[in-house]
Amino acid sequence: MFENLTVQPEDQILKLTGMFRADPRTDKIDLGVGVYRNAAGQTPVMRAIKKAEQQLWNSETTKAYTALAGDPAFHQAITDLLLGDAADPSRLAAVASVGGTGALRIAMELVRLANPQATVWVPSPTWPNHLPIARHVGLKLAEYRYFDSETGGVDFGAMMQDLGRVAPGDIVLLHGCCHNPTGANLTLPEWDSVAEIVTRQAAIPLIDIAYQGFGDGLQADAAGTRLIASRCPEALIASSCSKNFGIYRERTGLLLAVTPNTAMRDIAQGNMATLNRVNFSFPPDHGARLVTMVLTDPALRAEWTAELEEVRLSMLSLRESLADALRARTGSDRFGFLAQHRGMFSRLGATSEQVETLREKHGVYMVGDSRINIAGLNASSVPVLADAIAATGI
Ligand code: LMR
Repeated sequence: MFENLTVQPEDQILKLTGMFRADPRTDKIDLGVGVYRNAAGQTPVMRAIKKAEQQLWNSETTKAYTALAGDPAFHQAITDLLLGDAADPSRLAAVASVGGTGALRIAMELVRLANPQATVWVPSPTWPNHLPIARHVGLKLAEYRYFDSETGGVDFGAMMQDLGRVAPGDIVLLHGCCHNPTGANLTLPEWDSVAEIVTRQAAIPLIDIAYQGFGDGLQADAAGTRLIASRCPEALIASSCSKNFGIYRERTGLLLAVTPNTAMRDIAQGNMATLNRVNFSFPPDHGARLVTMVLTDPALRAEWTAELEEVRLSMLSLRESLADALRARTGSDRFGFLAQHRGMFSRLGATSEQVETLREKHGVYMVGDSRINIAGLNASSVPVLADAIAATGI
């Protein structure tokens, strides 16, 4: 049997982590995988999560199974955080998932069950893992234009043109905020036009939201998702707690389905729970429980919100200092987009040869499309990176 297997292509993002670890240079800079790092280069356990963990250790009396869909209190806590009162609860189905990726996977399997002919439309570019997940579950893929590398912004006209070609029942994948890999995001009026066009085309939006609180704040970052949830008859929302709660390895996420009515909600709910069952039975609970505790305890929630805001502001200030440092070195404002972008990522606009030079000559690691993780920087590495970018002639 095993002789039939072929070598799988390495994940572009994860392979960088191995290359970085193997590099003996002490002044190397890791701007690869999207993990938040503080000024000391660490990915700390957030203060409120640490306290919740202590409380849980004292109070937890059993580790017996929860439910196939996960804990309803977790559904409620994330739904409130993400949607506020934007969606009618009687139309919402929810299952806890194995991280945000697990939510995407269950979402795509649900699409395949309901409409195997559907094409999944993804922005160009998108998070590289979106493509193999859709292919793996057997769905067709198409791209809509999104990023304009000339302006460093969204090419909204081209995006709308492409969305005009989407067929009824197709899935339109949208990044809820902090677009990965570009950092270029839709404005609220643009979200409004997207809601209108997907509804007109009878397509179903699938929102991947993994960075709520990393861009313009918890409320602002959810505004596009709320608009879709309140305006579209059907939608799927895959939400991740990895980044904004700093619990990457706990694999905590939620899949929400906005359905037309309560009867369809019940059917969707049963299908989503069944998909959990056939994939892994019960979703992981530890991270979901911590998140629920943090969101429902006013003191823990205040502490979490404050720390998340510190994280967000530190990324914004790194963006500004990198844009300033590059302005000083290049005498131009062509990297000004770095300060306009939001979230963990931006694309520098370097060629793959330049990305390689940055890695080999300067010890700067970034994804091959020149995506940088802003949170991999700190006050002392910003000027080093700016020197390396200028020396490479980007
Ligand atoms: C990233 O884009 O770097 C993160 O979402 C981590 C991952 O799993 O790729």
